[in-house]
Parts: sequence; structure tokens; C-alpha cells
Amino acid sequence: MIIDGISSLDQILNLSIDPEKQTKKIFFKPKKNAPALFEEHTQLYFTNIYSQLTSIQKLRYNQLFASFFIEQFIVFEEDFTNRILQSLLGTPLIKNNQLLSRSLNQMITDETSHSGLFYEYNSILLPRKLSGKKGNRFFTKLNRFDKILFHFFLEFSSTRLFFMLWFLMAVEEYSLFITNCLKKHKKSKLGCLDPNYTKMMIEHSRDEARHVQIDAHLIHYIYINSSTLVKKINYYLLKLFLKNISKPKRGGLKVVNQLMKEFPELTKYRTTFKKELGLLGKNRDYLESLFSPGVIPKTDSLFRYFYGKSLIHLILPGN
Ligand SMILES: [Fe+2]
Ligand SMILES: [Fe+2]
Repeated sequence: MIIDGISSLDQILNLSIDPEKQTKKIFFKPKKNAPALFEEHTQLYFTNIYSQLTSIQKLRYNQLFASFFIEQFIVFEEDFTNRILQSLLGTPLIKNNQLLSRSLNQMITDETSHSGLFYEYNSILLPRKLSGKKGNRFFTKLNRFDKILFHFFLEFSSTRLFFMLWFLMAVEEYSLFITNCLKKHKKSKLGCLDPNYTKMMIEHSRDEARHVQIDAHLIHYIYINSSTLVKKINYYLLKLFLKNISKPKRGGLKVVNQLMKEFPELTKYRTTFKKELGLLGKNRDYLESLFSPGVIPKTDSLFRYFYGKSLIHLILPGN
């Protein structure tokens, strides 16, 4: 493989039957008084208004954001990843590559089982009326425009229109980054992290570590079979897509809305919250916390191999 740390598809498929490398269902009981993520992996941390919050409010924001974070994975994996992969599996180019087809099918099987892990955690951590039944997504309802946009790209996703695979690889690698941070440091400024959340993320990462490598093979295979024009078009589509997606939207605001419901004294900041979250799409520190080479090293190396620059350059202000 052209970048480091990527095994062959044969090796990856063999790992997928090793119980140690597979995500399994686990049983846990989230701690109600512990933070789940590091503050610097939440959105409000990058706003000025965050410093006005009390420790208790910060702690609750952290828990709500952590629920939102895993809910995004549910949506991402059920609606996004599996639909893209299904659509690619029907194309002649992928059909011609048996190993890759088998790997993508394995990935779909893996992702289908992951949401149960996340739903269970959220059903305990979120207020009763917000959680519960499968299919009940509280934070991540897309607006009509984004729904149409997603539907359009997912329907037409193919070996010609493949820019979203970069996003897929980046998100899967980002989840590994967050898991590694949680594994390494068990204590944050808000207190000891909930070991159950970490346990859940570690469990999830067993499959994701293989997925990132399959993504690399998939992107590489499609690229070497694409024309220069197709590569260029996908570059610009990716740029548009990432600029749109990296700005916090309704989900991030819904987390803050829930916080204001639980702490009505914060409602005086409603406009400030909205304004400051809206500005994060142009906040260098925030964008680097999501897409810098240190966070998504494999995605970045592969992108640099094909385009000669870091992926983060597509979204930093001024580019
Ligand atoms: Fe997953
Ligand atoms: Fe995955």
C-alpha cells in the first residue's frame, strides 16, 4: 500500500474473524456524574461563552454532547456508510475486485451491529423522553435542504462520484483518535471520565480500525482507475461538502437547547450560543481539532499522496 499502516485486504479479512479484533456487545451502566469526553472534543469549548458556564453546567454539556457524538455515529453508519457501500457494490469496477467486495460486505455487517451499542448508552444517559426506542434520534434530525443534498449524493454515489469516501475515512479515523485519547488519559479537567463510555468507544474501535484500512484500499483503487478530470471534480465537490459539514448546525444547537432547558438561567445566552457556534466553521482551532494530520494521519497521508496537500487545506479560512 502507498501509505504506512495499511495491511493487505487478505490480512484485514482474516482479522475480521478474530474475536479480539471484532466489536462485541457489552453491558454497562453510564455514570451519571462523570464527563464522557475531553472538553476539547466538544464544540462549545471553542467558543468564548464556554468560560461563562459553571463546572456543573460544563459537566452536563459534556454528557449531552457525548450523547450527540455517538448519535451522529448511529446516523452516519446507518444512513450514510451503508448506503454508499451498497451503491458501490453494484458498480462494475467494484464487482471486478472480489477481495474489495468481500471487505465492503463485511463492513456493512459490522456497521449494522454498532448502533445497538450506542442506543443502549444513550437510553441511560439522556432524559427519558429523549432516548429509548431504536430509531428515536434526538439531536440529529437533518433539515430539508441537507436531506435533499444527502439523498442526491447517496443515490448517485458511484465510482465516478466518490468524494464522500474521503469524509467516510476521516470520520472513521476521527473515532479512533477520540478512542485513543480516552484510553491514554482517564482524567479530564471536569473529573474522571466515565469508564463505560471509554469502554464503549474501545469496543467500537475494534471494527473501525479495520474499516479505516479498507477505506484506504477503496479510495486508492477507485483513484487509480479514474481520469484526471474525475479526480478534479471530486476534489472540488469534497471541498464544498466539507465546508458545509464542518460548520456546527442543528445538532450542536439542540445540545445547547437541551442544556438551557436543564439550566434555565442560561437562556439569557441563547443568541450568543447560536452566534458563536455558527462562527466555528471559520475557527481554525476548531477545524484543526477535527481534520488536522495529527487527528486523521492515514486519511491525510492518502489525500496528500493524490493531491499534494493536506486535507485540512480544503476547509481552513482563506482557502
Ligand atoms: Fe461503526
Ligand atoms: Fe466503520
